[in-house]
Amino acid sequence: MLLAIESSCDETAAAVCDNQGKILSNVLRTQAIHAQYGGVIPELASRAHQQTIITVVKHALEKANITKNEVKAIAVTQGPGLIGALLVGLHFAKGFALAKNIPLIGVNHIQAHVLAHLIDNPDIEFPFLCLLVSGGHTQIMWVKSPLDMEIIGRTIDDAAGEAFDKGAKMLGFPYPGGHIIDKYAQQGNPERFDFPVSNVPDLNYSFSGLKTALLYFLQKQTPEYIQTNLADICASYQHAISKALLNKFSLAIQKYKPKAITLAGGVAANSYIRTQLIELGNHFNIPAYIPAFEYCTDNAAMIAIAGLHLWKAGKVSQQDIVPYTMYQ
Ligand code: KG4
Ligand code: ZN
Repeated sequence: MLLAIESSCDETAAAVCDNQGKILSNVLRTQAIHAQYGGVIPELASRAHQQTIITVVKHALEKANITKNEVKAIAVTQGPGLIGALLVGLHFAKGFALAKNIPLIGVNHIQAHVLAHLIDNPDIEFPFLCLLVSGGHTQIMWVKSPLDMEIIGRTIDDAAGEAFDKGAKMLGFPYPGGHIIDKYAQQGNPERFDFPVSNVPDLNYSFSGLKTALLYFLQKQTPEYIQTNLADICASYQHAISKALLNKFSLAIQKYKPKAITLAGGVAANSYIRTQLIELGNHFNIPAYIPAFEYCTDNAAMIAIAGLHLWKAGKVSQQDIVPYTMYQ
């Protein structure tokens, strides 16, 4: 049995998996406190992790129906993420490993998002390409094997989830508003308004221009006009994000010729982007995978599966590991 902890941003999470990678529990506590500020406040995130981590771990053990003594290894997100937030999970895991005399495994959060695919699809073929889109990251990953992957494209400014959330804020929706744009867009026409589709060099992305384009567009309209055309505005804005994401991903498919394509991260919940990815798979005749929603957004089950692979490969960590804020 392996216990996993995730505390890199605004979700305090713990999960348990067995030695075959079966998820026995996946517990998550989202920090509601940030909604009133329109974004995650790092100091408040660390404090909230501190307050809830013990309860979340207890729930995860209870749900998996095991005791602390049955945990044979502990995996924890080491980075990237908010330093104070990461420290809470890391210190908890170090203490637990020391007290129980079990291996400690530091996990890369990005790699864990990618490995979340193995939870429900352990037979997915390598090498595959993963489009990783969330509030904090937008990357194309070339995944050669579970522990061998590289970033081949990334955003040079905002993440796709940020483009959704900042757009949502401009439209008057509460944080995080990505799913609200998705909801309105389902009734709208994606081709009604022409928002710019970013095209920066190589396999990279940029979303800051799109955000500014929405701002200027809204400044020119009356509140009544915006209200009446909300569905079309959301659909067109979402279309520009999706098209930018899929255009570069399509180029990556042609260049790398993967055995499968996958979508991961919180933005993978977006109904439009999901449909577009499946269509891309059909177009290239390659299987396309999207994890269950609970494994798309930040969660500890993905840390468990990544931790298990590392543990089996003998890649355990020492007590002196430190958190990292950037991908490494
Ligand atoms: O992976 P995640 O839980 O955490 C971060 O890395 O931040 O992703 C959260 C992001 C937020 O930006 C949220 O607005 C976005 O995923 N998101 C969506 C949808 N559901 C969540 N964006 C667009 N459409 C959705 N349905
Ligand atoms: Zn994440």
